[in-house]
Amino acid sequence: MPLIPLRPLLAATQRYGFAQGAFNVNSVIQAEAVIAAHEMFRSAAILQGADLANAFMGGNADFLKGTLEDKQRGARLIGEAVKKLSQDSPIPVVLHLDHGKDFASVKAAIDGGFTSVMIDGSHLPFAENVELTREVVQYAHERGITVEGELGVLSGVEDDVFSDQSTYTNPLKAVEFCKKTGVDCLAISYGTKHGAVKGENVQLRKEIVIAVTENLKHEGIFGVLVSHGSSLVPRYIVEKINQLGGTIKGANGIPMEELKSVIKAGIGKINIDTDLRLAVTRNIREYLAGNNSAAENPALKAIAELMNQKPEQFDPRGYLVPIMDSFITGQTTDPQVLDIFKRIKQGVQEVVGTLIVEFGSVGSSAKVEAVSLEEMAQRYQRNS
Ligand code: 13P
Repeated sequence: MPLIPLRPLLAATQRYGFAQGAFNVNSVIQAEAVIAAHEMFRSAAILQGADLANAFMGGNADFLKGTLEDKQRGARLIGEAVKKLSQDSPIPVVLHLDHGKDFASVKAAIDGGFTSVMIDGSHLPFAENVELTREVVQYAHERGITVEGELGVLSGVEDDVFSDQSTYTNPLKAVEFCKKTGVDCLAISYGTKHGAVKGENVQLRKEIVIAVTENLKHEGIFGVLVSHGSSLVPRYIVEKINQLGGTIKGANGIPMEELKSVIKAGIGKINIDTDLRLAVTRNIREYLAGNNSAAENPALKAIAELMNQKPEQFDPRGYLVPIMDSFITGQTTDPQVLDIFKRIKQGVQEVVGTLIVEFGSVGSSAKVEAVSLEEMAQRYQRNS
């Protein structure tokens, strides 16, 4: 079926009390794996490309310095691929921009076929965040596209989104923000953190979720809360990476029970990136360690060298540069690179499958209204 906006999926999470994982992808093969895992569980799917992931998919290996042109190319590439995958799929699929940096990046994603966007103005003073987000909401809603805003600052590092200290979201400000901007969902800061080092036995500030959700209800404002930085950082995966030569230190994720408790309190979208990176890294290390012939393949040898140079690294974009183009597009004739693709897909499916079950989204595809962008645009207009 055609790609759908995020809004009807958000409405379903609110109505039926489950959460939907939103999984970050940097390539077509990862997108295929995310969709296949959701199909297996008849769950709706949210795929997200971060702003700078779009720059990577636009062909810039130095994606942290990605230009708008890189992002435009990348958004078109993943947009076209996911549109096709969705067309052939029995489940509703959303393609969402994660951490849109500015209006131009958001527009690049929408032009490329994304059906939902995040504008991250959380680093700005409140009034400026409201102004930027409102501008995006107006542009996006006219096109039926869903908008996620952010209020409060998470700590941790994710591409160029970083802060030494987190500032929890003020519930009263969150309600004011939703009212003034008209966002469909809001990312809040309540104890999660981007990356693999989140601290031991993290306890989430569930009261913030409850306070925002209750107050939105009382004010008659639609809004679902989004949990960024929510990877569980499975110990069994990190340990295996380190047994295979990796040096990931101090790794700790959000405990599953903590996440489950906030789903009931009002979190409907849960962002996962780190866990995917970890599972893919373990699988590639395992493949390289178990295949002596890999050392004779120049591309695989170069990947192994990059992994050895930075054993602490677990972002596939860092060490897959020697096969970057085929990784992004999924096109290759090299049988060993195909083997690597298979391992990447298996890693993605292991994480995604686990979380579809844990977050309660098994079977969610039947609960989500498949609304077209045109119909969604009309609904926004009627309600404005
Ligand atoms: P993790 O680093 O915990 O996977 O968080 C990802 C995220 O929030 C993407 O926006």
